[in-house]
Amino acid sequence: MNSNTKALSLALSNTFVLYVKTLNYHWHVRGDNFYENHLLLESQYNQLAEAIDSIAEKIVMYGEKAPATMKEFLSIATLKEADGSKSDAGSMLAELAEDHTNMANGMLSAIESKTLDPITEDTLLQQAQAHTKAAWMLRACKK
Ligand SMILES: [Fe+2]
Repeated sequence: MNSNTKALSLALSNTFVLYVKTLNYHWHVRGDNFYENHLLLESQYNQLAEAIDSIAEKIVMYGEKAPATMKEFLSIATLKEADGSKSDAGSMLAELAEDHTNMANGMLSAIESKTLDPITEDTLLQQAQAHTKAAWMLRACKK
């Protein structure tokens, strides 16, 4: 793997972990704004699923094998899975917002390292924008 496919594999693995965590919180979130939060998380996990497919196909496009098992995703990802300790909407949404922000920052740092080709930079920039928007929505909604 070169620097491009490495950066894409990290993005893919972290996105997969965040996808599963978003599903988890979509299922288990509770509270006064349950339905609103439940639907927001549904729209976010659907966007993450699309991102997963798109990032993986970029890796394959470069002639590499994309990480494609849970074991590989977990060994590459820097994002932590949900540990089951969160039970209220406020802390679930805050954790997801922080994860999205950390992912955006990691992608922007990778771009700033100037070791990536323009296609990979563009992919990461688009994802960083999507994560920044997701973090805004999570922070703006009523807990
Ligand atoms: Fe659902």
